Amino acid sequence: MLATAEEVGRRAARVVLEELEAGRLAALGVATGSSPARVYEELAAAGARWEGVEVFALDEYVGLPPGHPESYAAVVDRQVRAPLGLDPRRVHVPDGGAADLDAAGAAYERALAERGGVDVQLLGIGATGHIGFNEPGSSFTSRTRVVELADRTVADNARFFDRPEDVPRRALTQGVATIGTARRHVLLAQGAAKAGAVRAALEGEVSTDCPASALRTFDDVLVLLDPAAASLL
Ligand code: GLP
Repeated sequence: MLATAEEVGRRAARVVLEELEAGRLAALGVATGSSPARVYEELAAAGARWEGVEVFALDEYVGLPPGHPESYAAVVDRQVRAPLGLDPRRVHVPDGGAADLDAAGAAYERALAERGGVDVQLLGIGATGHIGFNEPGSSFTSRTRVVELADRTVADNARFFDRPEDVPRRALTQGVATIGTARRHVLLAQGAAKAGAVRAALEGEVSTDCPASALRTFDDVLVLLDPAAASLL
């Protein structure tokens, strides 16, 4: 646990920068949502050299109009690609607009595998215990695929959209097993709304009822919490 939400972001950024400086960051896995926003600000402020680093997003909504500002492709472009000055060809987001979503999932798995998987995966956690968009019930052997979002997730993400009915109900997400292939994992959670999910993930049963509990089966996991997110531990 760290003293503040800001400290959580700074600490996560330090992990990424240490890997980069050591020449061990060929691919960075990025999460969207509010949890990692501070990390990206810190990474941009560090003035590091990102040439050659590939970036892979966890997930993308299905059914948004192309170029929608809340599509994860647009969010990653705004929060990660532009501030870090990355070549757009090195930034990968699942194609939630593909006509054949199964093929798009398989293509994303291939792109990840071709680059040897990601070195550091940043993760947030949903109030449902989701990682990426793997909602409760997601198999620990799941790979990139189309999923239905939980009602709670749709409600939580409505804050990013003009009208609640605009929130997509499906997504294309890396599976739990896909996320598990990362060499290092850094989960960030801030705020009391995450406290229940954090407790279920870290102290509950390791079970598909809480997809984030799969972290306890992954290699090299760092969990960074502010006091509110850690308050039920
Ligand atoms: C979103 C994303 C996740 C994210 C989580 C938490 O819906 N699909 O990748 O980690 O939910 O979001 P936030 O950080 O805004 O609370």
